[in-house]
Amino acid sequence: MLKLPGLIDPHVHVREPGATHKEDWDTATQAALSGGVTTILAMPNTKPPIFDEATLNLALDAAKAKARCDYGQYVGAGPDNSDIAASLAPKAAGLKMYLDSTFGELRLDDMTLWTPHFQKFPKSAPMVMHSESRTLAAAILFSAIYDHPIHIAHVSLKEEILLIKAAKEKGIQVTCEVCPHHLFLSKEDIPAISHGHPGRGEVRPRLATKEDVHSLWANLDVIDCFATDHAPHTLEEKDGENPPPGFPGLETMLPLLLTAADDGRLAIDHIVQKLYTNPKRIFNLSEQQETWVEVDENATYEIKASETFTRCGWTPFEGWKVKGKVSRVVLRGKTAFEGGKVLAEMGSGRNVRG
Ligand code: DOR
Ligand code: ZN
Repeated sequence: MLKLPGLIDPHVHVREPGATHKEDWDTATQAALSGGVTTILAMPNTKPPIFDEATLNLALDAAKAKARCDYGQYVGAGPDNSDIAASLAPKAAGLKMYLDSTFGELRLDDMTLWTPHFQKFPKSAPMVMHSESRTLAAAILFSAIYDHPIHIAHVSLKEEILLIKAAKEKGIQVTCEVCPHHLFLSKEDIPAISHGHPGRGEVRPRLATKEDVHSLWANLDVIDCFATDHAPHTLEEKDGENPPPGFPGLETMLPLLLTAADDGRLAIDHIVQKLYTNPKRIFNLSEQQETWVEVDENATYEIKASETFTRCGWTPFEGWKVKGKVSRVVLRGKTAFEGGKVLAEMGSGRNVRG
């Protein structure tokens, strides 16, 4: 039996408020626990988006009633909410800035809209960027100019990881995360994921080339965190017109990483560092007392969407053989997951900023 700390996923789309047919605080946190994750930080591109105190409270009230693991909720950077967002920093997981297109309408197109957030959001509070390619270079420049630490979400490209490496060497306060789907899938896998429905392969950032994937593995030491970007959409939506981008990931991240560890591609220490030690520091999280994850390292199984807790009903990793299964999760002294069943009660999760 392998014992790991309760894992932290700093990038989850819970979908409540507004799209609970895809996921809600109950199912997202069940999926988290079954994947060995005891803390999730939730993104603000909900309906309505989390832009002010009233919308933040909508999400936090739902989380308080339903969450089965610990949680935080990001506030989104809008075109004119920099004062409000800064004032909400103590209650929020952090600030999320969408500098590139995503699901929803949160993109800040004009760089003049970035400045007030860099000036006002507290330097000690996490500021997370959805910024790809050259927009990422711009975000790093803003970080240097305004002397504000930033965390780059879902790095997927060679040019991005190399730029972040160079920025770190210069002493710029930038950290980053990489998602399992960008480590284990390339654009060449899209036909196999799609089963004739190209929408299933849609995700932002897009799946990249094999060379990009290789560069992420070759620069593991530049990667501060792993994060799922768990972005559930139903199969009906993925297979319909205008398929929304996004993959579920909470239940497949740890088994995929454990399998890679078994293959000698990374060490268990990397998993602990990037899913516990580093996110705990970057996102200012306190220790969860008496919390751990028990893994049966030798259990091999096949990933099946029909056996998952997420409401979205599919996974891009369907049929993958993995080695390493979460057998038990203990959260604050209580068994929260065991033998494939979630035992933590609705509402037992705590707000990390509570
Ligand atoms: O693929 C994605 N899905 N990328 C994002 O940035 C947003 C997410 C979602 O909310 O569905
Ligand atoms: Zn996301």
